[in-house]
Amino acid sequence: MQIQFIDTAPSTVRLTARIVNQGDGLGDLDSALVDGAPAARFKGSAGQVFEGFAMDAGALKRIAIAGAGEPDATNRRLNVERAGAALTAKYLRSGEGELVLDLGRADLSGEEAASALLGVELRSWSYDQYRTKLAVDKQVSLKTVHVIGAPAGTQEAWEVQSALAKGVAFTKQLVTLPPNMLYPESFVALCEEAFAGTGAELTLLDDAAMEELGMGALLGVGQGSERPSRLLAIRWNGGKDGDKPSAFVGKGVTFDTGGISLKPPPGMEDMKWDMGGAGAVAGAMLALVSRKAKANIVGVVGLVENMPDGKAMRPGDVVTTMSGQTVEVLNTDAEGRLVLCDALHWTQEQFDPARIVDFATLTGAMIIALGNEHAGVFSNDDTLADQLLDAGKATGDKLWRLPIGPAYDKLIDSPIADIKNVGPRPAGSITAAQFLHRFIKNGTPWAHCDIAGTVWSDKPGHSWDKGATGYGVRLINDFVADNLE
Ligand code: BES
Ligand code: MN
Ligand code: ZN
Repeated sequence: MQIQFIDTAPSTVRLTARIVNQGDGLGDLDSALVDGAPAARFKGSAGQVFEGFAMDAGALKRIAIAGAGEPDATNRRLNVERAGAALTAKYLRSGEGELVLDLGRADLSGEEAASALLGVELRSWSYDQYRTKLAVDKQVSLKTVHVIGAPAGTQEAWEVQSALAKGVAFTKQLVTLPPNMLYPESFVALCEEAFAGTGAELTLLDDAAMEELGMGALLGVGQGSERPSRLLAIRWNGGKDGDKPSAFVGKGVTFDTGGISLKPPPGMEDMKWDMGGAGAVAGAMLALVSRKAKANIVGVVGLVENMPDGKAMRPGDVVTTMSGQTVEVLNTDAEGRLVLCDALHWTQEQFDPARIVDFATLTGAMIIALGNEHAGVFSNDDTLADQLLDAGKATGDKLWRLPIGPAYDKLIDSPIADIKNVGPRPAGSITAAQFLHRFIKNGTPWAHCDIAGTVWSDKPGHSWDKGATGYGVRLINDFVADNLE
């Protein structure tokens, strides 16, 4: 979407929109609209849109009014964002090519006005490249938003927030791409392109390098695939020299068939988004790097494809991880933790991070527990957990904390190796977290976010159409902004 700031609305544009607060009058508009809005039960609640028509100097104008809720609501910025997103949702494929957006009506600060634009921009992301027969009247039409009445500071705030939109779009792209196009090497290639010239430092490990380091768990998952595995680190030193970085680590299983413990066919196509953790980390890094965040951060993604073939791991295999701990692989479909344990260990060895947060579509049990509303967070550190929970509330990338502890940890002791990669059926998300915890060095604050339920959506949400949600980018961005900058 082209977002342009201008002083006066071009008279040639038919569609004009304004954002209003709940309870605001519409006094200056045509009486058909002033009376029509309440008649259509328009109250100005967040994300509500009313549309009417009016004649203006002999030309028909299409007029939209989007609600931003109560002006003093605690989640004001999210509400304003919803108003912007609701406008895009309504007009993206409406036939209108341009929209004039009046931001001068709801008593917004510059930051809040930029949030409206964030909503406009986020909701415009779509992926129609392979829909070659898409009817013309279903295609994206809205290309330009002319912003008028922007409060002081809007443009500066938008420069920062548009970096966030760029990161979310990158994540949505990675998550959406079909698995014949997105695999470990192509994931890396897209990152190399996205981060070129940004000042971020990329470190890439191929199979041979990982073999050398002893990453038997990550490589074990990839060994049944024709596609080689990769580990990619994206480093950004925007903070003080010598300050330890904070690390974000993502599960990047570009397709999860389950391996020899093969998944049933219905729904297996969903496992193209089993790289959603890696996608969130890559998108968040792009956002942080694009807005030149004043913090030292590193994003690490473990990239593999989990396939069954003659070389694939067998249930019962024992693998040795880079940490030296051995794992009995009882179920090759519990592969995410095998990828992450080596990625987490390497991250600690390589970067000595002050704290480490991982993101993974790790367990189906997470969806059973929390559905699609919250992702689960597990942590050995209350401060870190609270900081993440707060960032979740502020951004809408919501988290809910679940417990870990020694009694759960016992459930993954193996009779033949140090750990087994699955516990009993109960508490499946917790035992997965316990597995990861065994690879965190004593004392390092760590949190694990199981985002299995939030990466993909079967229905449109505030800032996404159905499909990839971009979950995690805003969470990480806010966490960094509030606690590390
Ligand atoms: N990627 C899946 C988890 C998943 C399932 C994410 C559905 C999103 C939607 C993960 O690799 C997996 O297969 N986990 C197993 C673990 C089990 C074998 C202990 C699961 O959840 O069934
Ligand atoms: Mn699996
Ligand atoms: Zn998986």
